[in-house]
Amino acid sequence: MEIVICPDIGAVGQAAADSFERVIQRKPAAVLGLATGSSPVPLYDELESRSRNGQVSFRDVRAFSLDEYIGLPVGHPETYKEVVNREFTTRMDIDPARVLGPNGNAPDLKVEAADFERAIINAGGIDVQVLGIGSNGHIGFNEPGSSLGSRTRVKTLLPTTRRDNARFFNDPDDVPHHVITQGIGTIMEARRIVLMATGEQKAEAIARLVEGPISAMCPGSILQLHPNARVILDEAAASQLALADYYRYTYENKPVWQRL
Ligand code: F6R
Repeated sequence: MEIVICPDIGAVGQAAADSFERVIQRKPAAVLGLATGSSPVPLYDELESRSRNGQVSFRDVRAFSLDEYIGLPVGHPETYKEVVNREFTTRMDIDPARVLGPNGNAPDLKVEAADFERAIINAGGIDVQVLGIGSNGHIGFNEPGSSLGSRTRVKTLLPTTRRDNARFFNDPDDVPHHVITQGIGTIMEARRIVLMATGEQKAEAIARLVEGPISAMCPGSILQLHPNARVILDEAAASQLALADYYRYTYENKPVWQRL
């Protein structure tokens, strides 16, 4: 696991965009994994400007999102389909037909989950997956207690997660209770993972992810077993890391050949 501690949110976005750009340069038809929420916004901002100045092109890329609320009306601005469309698809040179997420209004959610898993496999698997982390350690919507080998399925949100996400809704009661999310096993199959976290409210979850025991009580801690995971943080999110100075030293003195 590579820990990158950045001076500010803009630098977090740039470091994450560097990872994405490298993947797309090596493989123009790369398969991207997208997240929603606040954490990846600096990445999408940076990718938009790199796409506009011709530094990177999404023309041949395909993308899959991580998760979706169940039961929000089609077209609701907070469905993750709409969020991904707003934050990513409409800002890059990508054909919207090449961006897919699980359908939270599918008549049979088990079939939907299996079809979604198959679509990722048929695309060749995810080359680079961006993740945020919940304040309780969730990745995707795999809440604490999720099986570390889980596949795409329906999950129930914890009240704390519904409260965290209420800021996106007019009425906190409108936050759905259920979601369909890639499983932890699904996420772990991505070839590269870039997790972004900013702000003090993420510091404890990040310390548990990076330095705690691997446990279903902190689903993000499974990333300790991933062969190619970068955790990109601002100073506040890194503030509870026991080895923060070591990570800084390691990153600053890393030979180019050793970079993930
Ligand atoms: C979103 C997702 C979640 C968020 C997490 C952090 O697609 O899968 O795991 O990444 O809840 O949310 P923010 O970034 O809004 O703090």
